[in-house]
Amino acid sequence: MEIVNPYLCKYKGYIFGAGLTTAEYIDSLQTFEIRDSDIFLVTYPKSGTVWTQQILTLLCETGHTDGVTYENNLETMPWLEYPEGHTDYASRPSPRLFASHLTPALMPLGLKGKKGKIVYVMRNPKDNVVSYFHFCRAWSKLETPRSFEDFMEQYLAGAVGGSSWFDHIREWYTNRDQYNILFLTYEDMITDLRAEVVKISTFLGKNLDDSAIDRVVEKATFKNMKKDPKANYEFLPQDLLIREKGTFLRKGTVGDWKNTFTVAQNERFDQVFQEKMQDLPFKFVWDINEVSK
Ligand code: A3P
Repeated sequence: MEIVNPYLCKYKGYIFGAGLTTAEYIDSLQTFEIRDSDIFLVTYPKSGTVWTQQILTLLCETGHTDGVTYENNLETMPWLEYPEGHTDYASRPSPRLFASHLTPALMPLGLKGKKGKIVYVMRNPKDNVVSYFHFCRAWSKLETPRSFEDFMEQYLAGAVGGSSWFDHIREWYTNRDQYNILFLTYEDMITDLRAEVVKISTFLGKNLDDSAIDRVVEKATFKNMKKDPKANYEFLPQDLLIREKGTFLRKGTVGDWKNTFTVAQNERFDQVFQEKMQDLPFKFVWDINEVSK
């Protein structure tokens, strides 16, 4: 892998966290054997991954009869591209759950032809960049940004872990016909969590009654996830989060970017967004006041 800086490395045009994976392992994912029942959660970083991870984990737990339980959501839904400590994928019971920030080109080829299911969550990039900025300040394996201005420029250039938000969205969206994929937005989850949980449950082919859905929704609220030791990521080694607490569940809202962006930064961001996204059909919700419920 090409070293970008002490915290990041690059392979096949995609930026990974340094020291967490290898080129050989990433190449091996191409032939990773997919089961029909596999479920992949795919996101650009800081788009609501741990939130959706909680929802998927709970939905799959309901009615699960083989008795296998894992210690926390990361064990239940390990990270595809960062295999640390997980060598048991082939022997895992179905349905297997995986999380990933990868782009389509790096994903197992077996997913094409609509084998397995992918849930893709996206978030408006202004809230996304602010969330990412705070995460970089907290996470000891990432470089502390010199300023928000600096980080925003790196983000717009795609020079951050996960590479470009714009490319991620575009590549998944334009390749969507090859996959069995459900697109969700963070903002819709904020607007009506129950409706999104029902959407996911239907996509997974689950036939859950109202009380089972209610239970998932209740356990996936920001407040309840924050105190859920399986979901709040406080189980991670403390040296990873040495700089700041509450990293994975920070504010959990829409429009927090307004507390950070200057007018000039907003104009610059809008200009890049317009250039890069104009041919895609997405309408993002940027403000909590646009959230109807
Ligand atoms: P903020 O930093 O804006 O608060 P990821 O899991 O992809 O790293 O995304 C993290 C973001 O999702 C954080 O955003 C976090 O607060 C938010 N999040 C996590 N769980 C949530 C929940 N139950 N409800 C709303 N937002 C949640």
